[in-house]
Amino acid sequence: MNINITKYGSDILASDRFRQAYGVTHHYRSTVAEHSLHVAGEACRIAGWLNRHGFSISCEDVVRGSLLHDIGMTDSRVAECRPWRKAYAHPRRGTDIAGSEYRENAVVQNTIRRHMWPICVIPPRHISGWIVVAADKICSIREIAA
Ligand SMILES: [Fe+2]
Ligand SMILES: [Fe+2]
Repeated sequence: MNINITKYGSDILASDRFRQAYGVTHHYRSTVAEHSLHVAGEACRIAGWLNRHGFSISCEDVVRGSLLHDIGMTDSRVAECRPWRKAYAHPRRGTDIAGSEYRENAVVQNTIRRHMWPICVIPPRHISGWIVVAADKICSIREIAA
């Protein structure tokens, strides 16, 4: 596991909500928690590369946004939605959970809210959000194709 994930996300990993995410199937053979860890690892790699090339991206925001981007899937009302509706519902619910249960900042909340771009048409506001969008797509394809 990327060292930044435990450095910046240990409280999330230990939380009841994240543990619950190990029981929520995602992309057929994965779970929301496993997928979120994959996304965090990939997003850290992308952010690290960009930071070595002159960017100044907060690894903390990237890790926390990645770990929580699909946390809305743990809500039972979201789980009951049809797939197309779930695509819109889980970023909204996830943003609420990130604010109320994890006290995330506005950057992390925007990352979660906008991570389904381009299915949801409004894009992320910050570069860390774009990194999570990219990492999410890469990991989703890997998991579905595995
Ligand atoms: Fe998602
Ligand atoms: Fe995802």
